[in-house]
Amino acid sequence: MTPEILEIIDLKVDFCLQGKINQAVGGVSLFIRDHETVVLAGESGSGKTVTALSITGILPPNALIAQGKILYRGRDLLTLGEDALSRIRGNQIAYIFQEPGAYLNPVLSIGDQLSETIILHQGLTKEAAREEAAELLALVKIRDPKDIIRSYPHQLSGGMNQRVFLAMALACKPRILIADEPTTSLDVTVEAKMLELLMGLKKEIGFALLFITHNLSIAKKIADRIYVMYRGKIVEEGDQDKILTRPEHAHTKELVAAFEKIGKL
Ligand SMILES: Nc1ncnc2c1ncn2[C@@H]1O[C@H](COP(=O)(O)OP(=O)(O)O)[C@@H](O)[C@H]1O
Ligand SMILES: [Mg+2]
Repeated sequence: MTPEILEIIDLKVDFCLQGKINQAVGGVSLFIRDHETVVLAGESGSGKTVTALSITGILPPNALIAQGKILYRGRDLLTLGEDALSRIRGNQIAYIFQEPGAYLNPVLSIGDQLSETIILHQGLTKEAAREEAAELLALVKIRDPKDIIRSYPHQLSGGMNQRVFLAMALACKPRILIADEPTTSLDVTVEAKMLELLMGLKKEIGFALLFITHNLSIAKKIADRIYVMYRGKIVEEGDQDKILTRPEHAHTKELVAAFEKIGKL
């Protein structure tokens, strides 16, 4: 069996809001093996994003990790200083989010922001970074990288921006890619293409994938294993076949039934 590359042990995260403490994540444990595709599923507000953001310490300032360990290849990320953590973040663990537009810089051309990331992570010269940027855009199946490189985010469609964002995430050659609802804001045909691209790249490059979604039909397409989150806790986990065809927990049964009802499972 492939070893675990990431393991979260009993993670608790609280938010302080208007002087009150609210628990967002209440004791989550999960693991991801090298090269595996793990789906973290669950309804909106169940704590999926907060769990993911905890992994590389990019939680909002009013969040507090109250308990737990996050082991990356055996090292507890929660005990690392900002320097060590920022080397891992971006170099070994990369993210893509639901709204790439919100994370791309509107005043920098696609080429400039890709080059910037490449220079930062690979220490290449400006010219070499520019070439690598075009190669990365080709890798994410952008047909005319030379044109796209000169464009700005607002000139591109949501699907195109998500590809650019993915290219940027892959610039660092990550061992783990965390994708937090990366297709939720895309229309269905663009979503299908994006999933196909992502899974193709995963095979080619060989990263482990933590894919976060509320959508079980995506889980069915891509997951090796599924964790189901509900109100800050993992209520069920298992191979996709077990979760989608023989769910045991009442909440999982409800979710599965809802997707079956609309013919999406
Ligand atoms: N910045 C924040 N301040 C206060 N509470 C937050 C903040 N971000 C998230 N939460 C709370 O944490 C819980 C989990 O949120 P989240 O992880 O975003 O859910 P999901 O990604 O599953 O939709 C929710 O109850 C949400 O209200
Ligand atoms: Mg979320």
